[in-house]
Amino acid sequence: MGTVITVAMTKGGVGKTTTAVNVAAAFAMHGHSVCLIDLDQQGNATYSVTGQAKYNFNDVGLFDLLMTFGMVNQRVGNYIHETRIPNLQVIPATGMTNQIPPLLAILKARHAEIKEYQVLDACIAPLRDMFDVIVIDTPPAKDALTVSGIYAANQVLLPVNADKFSLDALVETCSLIQSINREDGRDVDVLGVLLTKIERNSATALIRKKLHTQEFASLMLKTEIRKGAAVTDSTLLGGPVLLTDPRSNPSKDYLALYEEIAPEVIGHDIVQ
Ligand SMILES: Nc1ncnc2c1ncn2[C@@H]1O[C@H](COP(=O)(O)OP(=O)(O)OP(=O)(O)O)[C@@H](O)[C@H]1O
Ligand SMILES: [Mg+2]
Repeated sequence: MGTVITVAMTKGGVGKTTTAVNVAAAFAMHGHSVCLIDLDQQGNATYSVTGQAKYNFNDVGLFDLLMTFGMVNQRVGNYIHETRIPNLQVIPATGMTNQIPPLLAILKARHAEIKEYQVLDACIAPLRDMFDVIVIDTPPAKDALTVSGIYAANQVLLPVNADKFSLDALVETCSLIQSINREDGRDVDVLGVLLTKIERNSATALIRKKLHTQEFASLMLKTEIRKGAAVTDSTLLGGPVLLTDPRSNPSKDYLALYEEIAPEVIGHDIVQ
Protein backbone atom coordinates (compact mmCIF):
# COMPACT_ATOMS: atom_id res chain seq x y z
CA MET A 1 0.00 0.00 0.00
CA GLY A 2 1.37 3.41 -0.97
CA THR A 3 1.80 6.16 1.59
CA VAL A 4 -0.01 9.47 1.15
CA ILE A 5 2.08 12.48 2.21
CA THR A 6 0.18 15.76 2.27
CA VAL A 7 2.16 19.00 2.35
CA ALA A 8 0.05 21.53 4.22
CA MET A 9 0.27 24.90 5.93
CA THR A 10 -2.57 27.42 6.04
CA LYS A 11 -0.14 30.32 5.48
CA GLY A 12 0.84 31.26 1.92
CA GLY A 13 4.31 31.28 0.44
CA VAL A 14 6.04 29.10 3.05
CA GLY A 15 7.39 26.57 0.54
CA LYS A 16 4.59 23.98 0.32
CA THR A 17 4.72 23.58 -3.45
CA THR A 18 8.52 23.64 -3.62
CA THR A 19 8.60 20.97 -0.92
CA ALA A 20 5.86 18.86 -2.53
CA VAL A 21 7.50 18.77 -5.96
CA ASN A 22 11.01 18.16 -4.64
CA VAL A 23 9.93 15.46 -2.20
CA ALA A 24 7.96 13.81 -5.00
CA ALA A 25 10.98 14.10 -7.33
CA ALA A 26 13.36 12.75 -4.67
CA PHE A 27 11.30 9.60 -4.13
CA ALA A 28 10.97 9.16 -7.91
CA MET A 29 14.73 9.61 -8.43
CA HIS A 30 15.35 6.88 -5.86
CA GLY A 31 13.26 4.42 -7.87
CA HIS A 32 9.91 4.70 -6.10
CA SER A 33 6.74 5.15 -8.14
CA VAL A 34 5.20 8.48 -7.20
CA CYS A 35 1.98 10.34 -7.97
CA LEU A 36 1.77 14.06 -7.23
CA ILE A 37 -1.72 15.53 -6.76
CA ASP A 38 -2.15 19.29 -7.18
CA LEU A 39 -5.01 20.62 -5.02
CA ASP A 40 -4.12 24.27 -5.54
CA GLN A 41 -5.90 26.30 -8.19
CA GLN A 42 -2.66 28.22 -8.78
CA GLY A 43 -1.42 25.06 -10.54
CA ASN A 44 2.21 25.72 -9.55
CA ALA A 45 2.94 22.10 -8.69
CA THR A 46 1.45 21.00 -12.02
CA TYR A 47 3.69 23.44 -13.89
CA SER A 48 6.76 22.50 -11.87
CA VAL A 49 6.66 18.87 -12.96
CA THR A 50 5.19 19.16 -16.46
CA GLY A 51 6.31 22.59 -17.67
CA GLN A 52 2.69 23.07 -18.78
CA ALA A 53 -0.01 25.50 -17.65
CA LYS A 54 -3.01 24.07 -15.80
CA TYR A 55 -5.34 24.97 -18.72
CA ASN A 56 -3.64 22.32 -20.85
CA PHE A 57 -5.21 19.68 -18.61
CA ASN A 58 -8.82 20.89 -18.73
CA ASP A 59 -11.27 17.91 -18.66
CA VAL A 60 -8.56 15.48 -17.48
CA GLY A 61 -7.49 16.85 -14.08
CA LEU A 62 -8.41 16.60 -10.43
CA PHE A 63 -11.83 18.30 -10.81
CA ASP A 64 -12.81 15.73 -13.45
CA LEU A 65 -11.64 12.83 -11.28
CA LEU A 66 -13.75 14.11 -8.37
CA MET A 67 -16.74 14.38 -10.75
CA THR A 68 -16.61 10.59 -11.09
CA PHE A 69 -17.32 10.11 -7.37
CA GLY A 70 -19.95 7.41 -6.87
CA MET A 71 -19.78 6.17 -10.47
CA VAL A 72 -19.26 2.45 -11.02
CA ASN A 73 -16.74 2.83 -13.80
CA GLN A 74 -14.40 5.30 -12.17
CA ARG A 75 -11.21 5.21 -14.27
CA VAL A 76 -8.59 6.99 -12.22
CA GLY A 77 -5.98 6.29 -14.89
CA ASN A 78 -7.67 8.82 -17.20
CA TYR A 79 -6.60 11.64 -14.88
CA ILE A 80 -2.98 10.61 -14.28
CA HIS A 81 -0.36 12.23 -16.53
CA GLU A 82 3.30 11.70 -17.27
CA THR A 83 5.75 14.38 -16.07
CA ARG A 84 9.24 15.35 -17.15
CA ILE A 85 10.58 13.08 -14.39
CA PRO A 86 10.77 9.30 -14.74
CA ASN A 87 8.69 7.42 -12.09
CA LEU A 88 6.71 10.58 -11.30
CA GLN A 89 3.16 11.11 -12.52
CA VAL A 90 0.69 13.85 -11.72
CA ILE A 91 -3.02 14.46 -11.25
CA PRO A 92 -2.98 18.11 -12.30
CA ALA A 93 -4.82 21.26 -11.32
CA THR A 94 -6.92 22.72 -14.15
CA GLY A 95 -8.96 25.81 -14.89
CA MET A 96 -11.78 24.10 -12.95
CA THR A 97 -9.90 23.58 -9.67
CA ASN A 98 -11.54 26.68 -8.19
CA GLN A 99 -14.90 24.97 -8.78
CA ILE A 100 -14.02 21.99 -6.58
CA PRO A 101 -15.54 23.41 -3.35
CA PRO A 102 -19.00 23.91 -5.00
CA LEU A 103 -18.66 20.48 -6.65
CA LEU A 104 -18.02 18.90 -3.23
CA ALA A 105 -21.13 20.64 -1.87
CA ILE A 106 -23.22 19.17 -4.74
CA LEU A 107 -21.77 15.69 -4.18
CA LYS A 108 -22.54 15.98 -0.46
CA ALA A 109 -26.15 16.90 -1.26
CA ARG A 110 -26.43 13.80 -3.48
CA HIS A 111 -24.69 11.40 -1.12
CA ALA A 112 -25.93 12.06 2.41
CA GLU A 113 -23.53 9.50 3.92
CA ILE A 114 -20.36 11.34 2.88
CA LYS A 115 -18.75 14.53 4.16
CA GLU A 116 -17.37 16.97 1.58
CA TYR A 117 -13.76 16.41 2.56
CA GLN A 118 -14.08 12.61 2.25
CA VAL A 119 -14.65 12.69 -1.54
CA LEU A 120 -10.96 13.10 -2.46
CA ASP A 121 -9.92 10.20 -0.23
CA ALA A 122 -12.53 7.94 -1.86
CA CYS A 123 -11.55 8.99 -5.40
CA ILE A 124 -7.82 8.44 -4.91
CA ALA A 125 -8.21 5.11 -3.08
CA PRO A 126 -7.06 3.10 -6.16
CA LEU A 127 -3.79 5.07 -6.24
CA ARG A 128 -2.69 3.46 -2.99
CA ASP A 129 -2.27 0.18 -4.87
CA MET A 130 -0.68 1.79 -7.94
CA PHE A 131 2.06 3.94 -6.36
CA ASP A 132 4.62 3.67 -3.56
CA VAL A 133 4.15 7.30 -2.59
CA ILE A 134 1.38 9.83 -3.27
CA VAL A 135 2.29 13.46 -2.56
CA ILE A 136 -0.49 16.04 -2.23
CA ASP A 137 0.15 19.79 -2.54
CA THR A 138 -2.49 21.96 -0.86
CA PRO A 139 -3.54 25.63 -1.15
CA PRO A 140 -2.70 28.29 1.46
CA ALA A 141 -6.06 28.22 3.25
CA LYS A 142 -8.07 26.32 5.80
CA ASP A 143 -10.57 25.40 3.08
CA ALA A 144 -12.34 22.28 1.81
CA LEU A 145 -9.33 21.36 -0.35
CA THR A 146 -6.77 21.54 2.45
CA VAL A 147 -9.08 19.60 4.77
CA SER A 148 -9.58 16.99 1.99
CA GLY A 149 -5.80 16.69 1.58
CA ILE A 150 -5.23 16.21 5.30
CA TYR A 151 -8.11 13.74 5.60
CA ALA A 152 -6.60 11.60 2.80
CA ALA A 153 -3.09 11.66 4.32
CA ASN A 154 -1.16 9.02 6.16
CA GLN A 155 1.44 11.63 7.00
CA VAL A 156 1.46 15.44 6.85
CA LEU A 157 4.60 17.45 6.13
CA LEU A 158 4.43 20.97 7.55
CA PRO A 159 6.74 23.57 5.97
CA VAL A 160 7.26 26.79 7.94
CA ASN A 161 9.47 29.83 7.58
CA ALA A 162 11.38 31.35 10.44
CA ASP A 163 8.81 34.02 11.22
CA LYS A 164 6.08 34.65 13.75
CA PHE A 165 3.18 34.30 11.28
CA SER A 166 4.41 30.85 10.27
CA LEU A 167 4.24 29.80 13.91
CA ASP A 168 0.62 30.97 14.12
CA ALA A 169 -0.22 28.98 10.98
CA LEU A 170 1.56 25.93 12.43
CA VAL A 171 -0.69 26.03 15.49
CA GLU A 172 -3.74 26.37 13.23
CA THR A 173 -2.72 23.54 10.87
CA CYS A 174 -1.84 21.17 13.72
CA SER A 175 -5.20 21.79 15.38
CA LEU A 176 -6.88 21.01 12.05
CA ILE A 177 -5.07 17.64 11.94
CA GLN A 178 -6.04 16.92 15.53
CA SER A 179 -9.69 17.72 14.94
CA ILE A 180 -9.82 15.44 11.86
CA ASN A 181 -8.27 12.62 13.88
CA ARG A 182 -10.64 13.19 16.78
CA GLU A 183 -13.89 13.77 14.90
CA ASP A 184 -13.41 11.29 12.07
CA GLY A 185 -11.42 8.62 13.87
CA ARG A 186 -8.50 9.06 11.44
CA ASP A 187 -4.89 8.28 12.16
CA VAL A 188 -3.10 11.10 10.32
CA ASP A 189 0.51 11.41 11.52
CA VAL A 190 2.71 14.47 11.41
CA LEU A 191 5.76 13.47 9.37
CA GLY A 192 7.48 16.59 10.63
CA VAL A 193 7.80 20.35 10.67
CA LEU A 194 10.25 21.57 8.05
CA LEU A 195 11.98 24.94 8.25
CA THR A 196 12.36 26.30 4.71
CA LYS A 197 13.91 29.37 3.04
CA ILE A 198 16.43 29.48 5.87
CA GLU A 199 18.92 32.32 6.12
CA ARG A 200 21.62 32.85 8.69
CA ASN A 201 20.40 35.63 10.95
CA SER A 202 19.44 36.18 14.57
CA ALA A 203 15.67 36.09 13.92
CA THR A 204 16.04 32.61 12.37
CA ALA A 205 18.11 31.43 15.33
CA LEU A 206 15.47 32.71 17.72
CA ILE A 207 12.53 31.03 15.95
CA ARG A 208 14.52 27.79 15.56
CA LYS A 209 15.20 27.76 19.28
CA LYS A 210 11.56 28.44 20.06
CA LEU A 211 10.44 25.59 17.78
CA HIS A 212 12.95 23.13 19.17
CA THR A 213 12.18 23.82 22.81
CA GLN A 214 8.43 24.38 22.94
CA GLU A 215 5.33 22.32 22.07
CA PHE A 216 6.52 21.43 18.57
CA ALA A 217 9.98 20.18 19.63
CA SER A 218 9.20 16.50 19.01
CA LEU A 219 7.85 17.26 15.52
CA MET A 220 10.85 19.21 14.21
CA LEU A 221 12.78 17.64 11.34
CA LYS A 222 16.56 17.70 11.58
CA THR A 223 16.84 18.85 7.97
CA GLU A 224 16.29 22.51 7.13
CA ILE A 225 15.99 23.89 3.58
CA ARG A 226 18.28 26.81 2.93
CA LYS A 227 17.19 29.78 0.86
CA GLY A 228 18.75 29.78 -2.59
CA ALA A 229 18.25 31.57 -5.90
CA ALA A 230 18.30 28.16 -7.61
CA VAL A 231 14.71 27.64 -6.43
CA THR A 232 13.50 30.81 -8.15
CA ASP A 233 15.42 29.79 -11.27
CA SER A 234 13.79 26.35 -11.16
CA THR A 235 10.32 27.94 -11.34
CA LEU A 236 11.37 29.67 -14.57
CA LEU A 237 12.74 26.42 -15.96
CA GLY A 238 9.58 24.50 -15.03
CA GLY A 239 11.25 21.72 -13.05
CA PRO A 240 12.05 20.77 -9.44
CA VAL A 241 15.31 22.36 -8.27
CA LEU A 242 16.61 18.84 -7.60
CA LEU A 243 16.75 18.42 -11.36
CA THR A 244 17.43 21.94 -12.58
CA ASP A 245 20.35 22.60 -10.20
CA PRO A 246 21.26 19.46 -8.24
CA ARG A 247 24.36 21.04 -6.74
CA SER A 248 22.59 24.02 -5.18
CA ASN A 249 22.09 24.26 -1.41
CA PRO A 250 18.29 23.77 -1.56
CA SER A 251 18.82 20.61 -3.67
CA LYS A 252 21.33 19.20 -1.19
CA ASP A 253 18.86 19.96 1.59
CA TYR A 254 15.92 18.31 -0.19
CA LEU A 255 18.06 15.20 -0.69
CA ALA A 256 18.92 15.25 3.02
CA LEU A 257 15.20 15.56 3.73
CA TYR A 258 14.58 12.49 1.57
CA GLU A 259 17.18 10.52 3.57
CA GLU A 260 15.57 11.63 6.81
CA ILE A 261 11.94 10.87 5.94
CA ALA A 262 12.24 7.92 3.52
CA PRO A 263 12.53 5.22 6.23
CA GLU A 264 9.35 6.48 7.87
CA VAL A 265 7.43 6.95 4.61
CA ILE A 266 8.40 3.66 3.01
CA GLY A 267 8.25 1.77 6.31
CA HIS A 268 4.82 3.24 7.03
CA ASP A 269 3.02 0.35 5.43
CA ILE A 270 4.94 -2.22 7.45
CA VAL A 271 4.18 -0.68 10.84
CA GLN A 272 0.43 -0.36 10.09
N1 LIG B 1 14.49 27.27 -0.47
C1 LIG B 1 14.05 28.33 -1.17
N2 LIG B 1 14.92 29.29 -1.56
C2 LIG B 1 14.49 30.37 -2.26
N3 LIG B 1 13.23 30.57 -2.63
C3 LIG B 1 12.31 29.66 -2.28
C4 LIG B 1 12.67 28.49 -1.53
N4 LIG B 1 11.54 27.76 -1.34
C5 LIG B 1 10.54 28.43 -1.93
N5 LIG B 1 11.00 29.57 -2.49
C6 LIG B 1 10.21 30.58 -3.24
O1 LIG B 1 9.25 31.14 -2.36
C7 LIG B 1 8.02 31.33 -3.02
C8 LIG B 1 6.94 30.53 -2.32
O2 LIG B 1 7.28 29.15 -2.43
P1 LIG B 1 6.16 28.07 -2.72
O3 LIG B 1 5.38 28.44 -3.93
O4 LIG B 1 6.80 26.75 -2.68
O5 LIG B 1 5.27 28.27 -1.42
P2 LIG B 1 3.77 27.82 -1.16
O6 LIG B 1 3.65 27.65 0.32
O7 LIG B 1 3.41 26.69 -2.01
O8 LIG B 1 2.98 29.11 -1.66
P3 LIG B 1 1.36 29.19 -1.79
O9 LIG B 1 0.89 29.26 -0.39
O10 LIG B 1 1.14 30.45 -2.57
O11 LIG B 1 0.91 27.97 -2.50
C9 LIG B 1 8.24 30.91 -4.47
O12 LIG B 1 8.54 32.05 -5.22
C10 LIG B 1 9.43 29.98 -4.40
O13 LIG B 1 10.17 29.98 -5.58
MG1 LIG C 1 1.82 26.42 -3.32
